[in-house]
Amino acid sequence: MLKKIANPAALCLAALLCLAACSPFAHLTEVNNTLGEAHGPKAVDCGQCHIEQFGEWQASAHAQAFVNPRFQAALADGADDSCLGCHVPDTVRANGEPPVPRNYHRQDGVSCVACHLDKGAMTGPEPESALFTPHPIAVQPEFFRTSGLCGTCHTETFRNWQASRSNHPATPTCQECHMPPVVRTATKGSNPFSKALVAFEESRPTRRHTFGLAHLAEIPGLIEIKMLGWQPEKSSPLQLSVRNLLPHSLPTGSFRTRRIWIKTTLHTQPKTVLEPSLFLGHGWTTLAGDGIPALAADEARTLTIPIILAPGASLTSAELLTVQVLLGPLAEEEDLPMLRKEFILPGTR
Ligand code: HEC
Ligand code: HEC
Ligand code: HEC
Ligand code: HEC
Ligand code: HEC
Repeated sequence: MLKKIANPAALCLAALLCLAACSPFAHLTEVNNTLGEAHGPKAVDCGQCHIEQFGEWQASAHAQAFVNPRFQAALADGADDSCLGCHVPDTVRANGEPPVPRNYHRQDGVSCVACHLDKGAMTGPEPESALFTPHPIAVQPEFFRTSGLCGTCHTETFRNWQASRSNHPATPTCQECHMPPVVRTATKGSNPFSKALVAFEESRPTRRHTFGLAHLAEIPGLIEIKMLGWQPEKSSPLQLSVRNLLPHSLPTGSFRTRRIWIKTTLHTQPKTVLEPSLFLGHGWTTLAGDGIPALAADEARTLTIPIILAPGASLTSAELLTVQVLLGPLAEEEDLPMLRKEFILPGTR
């Protein structure tokens, strides 16, 4: 566990650490999953050194997978142990077998050790660079940088993704879209001593543990929108086509109740700075969710958009159409705008 003992100062530090390391870190890799005597590390223990990863994970759905009120409600309703494997996994390292439930620290949901601990070592994508590591490390980039890891639990989404990948070999992995890239050291120092230790670590390109949806809005080319028709004199004036370019359904998830909205807004085109555009009307249409089937990967759907006109406004003066694709509902947040596109309408004035 000691490396790079190249100079006397490092040797001295290493010797100190060796003393300190003789046992206080053993709890990080000691796991017993037997009911009644179950114990193992908590996520917050990892957070002592992996400060950023812990913060990201803590704010993610993975940390909520057990305490989520909707999951708790299902358990209270009699949902059985078969639900626990993916929501409180002991380990996902069981060679493709479905995960078995963890019997310790269940409130940690999909916890650090579930993805990282394997045969007494913390497995990760990169070899160690630190002077001292408090736990054994094993290197498995293939496991961490392919979609199969996520597919252990996201089974339906993973099947969609596999089908897309066989049609489009350049399809990104789950991690490439859902774990935003970052360059950093694996640990962060919190006091002068740990800061000195971290100084030996290499900064590397890796990915954040946020697993959120917010940053997805910045990835171009996930959804395609075309205007098929604009006939202001007709009773249903606007037709749009929406194509799902994601490698999974829109919205995805076997248990989620999200929906995708299309928000349209009509304006007069601003001609000059002195003549601002006028709001003429808008429309809200559910594309998918709320009883309307999800859009499969690659599927296109044609929508006729009802427009509610503002008092006194007329469709024939519309020159600018804005279309927004929104994902909701999200816990305590506004619906997430995934795409915004403007169309100049054929002039009718
Ligand atoms: C006392 C500090 C400390 C604690 C606590 C700790 N680690 Fe580490 N961990 C390290 C150091 C140091 C490294 C090596 C970093 C390097 O060499 O770049 C490391 C490396 C890792 C790696 C490999 C990173 C890679 O780039 O592949 C993983 C995964 C990991 N730890 C997971 C965990 C988990 C999970 C826990 C909690 C059960 C934990 N660690 C607790 C200090 C700690
Ligand atoms: C051990 C099972 C398991 C593994 C492995 C796993 N997940 Fe999850 N994931 C879940 C569960 C369970 C939830 C839902 C938790 C909740 O909302 O209560 C979830 C939620 C999510 C969400 C939803 C976030 C949101 O805010 O709606 C995303 C995105 C996600 N996972 C991506 C991934 C990716 C990418 C990987 C692979 C690196 C992965 N997951 C690996 C079980 C897993
Ligand atoms: C759903 C599975 C999953 C969970 C849960 C998870 N990780 Fe990771 N972790 C990953 C993946 C995937 C990577 C690889 C990212 C990359 O491509 O570099 C990774 C990389 C890492 C790394 C090395 C890269 C870095 O960020 O410096 C560390 C350290 C780490 N995780 C620690 C943790 C800790 C601590 C927790 C809990 C607070 C945790 N992980 C929870 C999947 C997971
Ligand atoms: C090209 C980028 C991309 C890739 C690759 C990708 N996703 Fe997604 N994912 C998205 C976008 C955009 C959304 C938001 C729209 C939606 O819900 O479908 C999303 C949503 C999700 C959600 C959240 C659903 C919800 O409403 O909470 C989960 C879970 C998820 N993806 C898992 C995965 C998994 C697992 C993989 C790999 C098998 C994967 N994704 C691959 C872009 C991607
Ligand atoms: C194969 C793994 C797996 C199993 C087994 C599983 N889940 Fe989940 N669960 C997930 C994943 C992944 C998500 C997040 C994305 C999605 O919906 O697919 C999730 C999300 C959820 C959510 C969150 C929905 C929300 O919007 O907050 C609830 C509730 C839920 N599951 C209940 C259950 C119940 C009840 C069972 C047992 C009948 C169960 N799950 C079994 C993987 C699993």
